[in-house]
Amino acid sequence: PINLRGRSLLTLKDFTPEEIKYLLELSKDLKAKKRMGIKGDLLKGKNIVLLFEKTSTRTRCAFEVAAFDEGANVTFLTNSQMGKKESIEDTARVLGRFYDGIEFRGFKQETVEILAKYSGVPVWNGLTDEDHPTQVLADFLTIMENFEKPLNKIKFVYVGDGRNNMANALMIGASKMGMDFVIISPKELFPSKELISEMETTANENGGKITITDKLDAVANADVIYTDVWISMGEESKVEERIKLLKPYQVNMDLIKKTNNPEVIFLHCLPSFHDTKTDMGYDIYQKYGLTEMEVTDEVFQSKYSKVFDEAENRMHTIKAVMVATLVG
Ligand code: CP
Ligand code: NVA
Repeated sequence: PINLRGRSLLTLKDFTPEEIKYLLELSKDLKAKKRMGIKGDLLKGKNIVLLFEKTSTRTRCAFEVAAFDEGANVTFLTNSQMGKKESIEDTARVLGRFYDGIEFRGFKQETVEILAKYSGVPVWNGLTDEDHPTQVLADFLTIMENFEKPLNKIKFVYVGDGRNNMANALMIGASKMGMDFVIISPKELFPSKELISEMETTANENGGKITITDKLDAVANADVIYTDVWISMGEESKVEERIKLLKPYQVNMDLIKKTNNPEVIFLHCLPSFHDTKTDMGYDIYQKYGLTEMEVTDEVFQSKYSKVFDEAENRMHTIKAVMVATLVG
């Protein structure tokens, strides 16, 4: 029997396919429970702290609502002493005395690792420069809701910045679940060789495969097309370079048609620049003749797009992570 009590979620690398499946099934149950209007108390008496170095809408709200739904108390902390007047180690030791669980969003993966090592309580990675494991759980739940076939029969194609946290996190999750996983990106933005070879081993063990290519033709027969922003948080100085590299990799209706699959779905972790005229666009986009960035508004608003189901699923999957690791 699977019991995740006391475990941290720093990266899905640390979880077996069975444990990931367990979290997804629990998410489904908790979603159904919420839909039936049943108020829970699975996290009653628990105190949770949410540490944020970067901005957030979905992750912060998902943790808060998930905690409240099951009776936990939450502290949202953005202006702590950590990394300024106090080491990450000491911060971890203090927070571990107060709280039953710690969520962290920020820059370095090393920070979540140190928090987990020194706090003595479960730590959840709410996004770092390298990884975004809770997002992947929401993405996989959304896929399960849209296809009859199991995850290991899904062809998943990520298009865009192949080196960012989402590309990494999806490669890890897809390898665990034995998917046919493809990254289409310019060569300059291919994932790191180390991660590819590590995940190729994982994919082999689980009956999946990984393809990294700069050819858009690789979208053929995709079940899922996924993209993310071209400029991630903390990379604001790279706008021009990224636009030049990624302009040919925009997800538009031509690309959707190229899949030759009428059942294909479009996913995006959000936030998204699908309409820079109405969004908080950078003027610089206009210089390159772009009013839409990584995905066109037409695709974003289309019947293929499941992005708001996916966003909602952040809450149900994060709830499952907290219940599984705090209660078991
Ligand atoms: N997808 C996601 O992590 O969104 P936020 O940045 O709004 O938390
Ligand atoms: N790659 C994006 C994901 C946001 C959820 C970023 O890091 O900004």
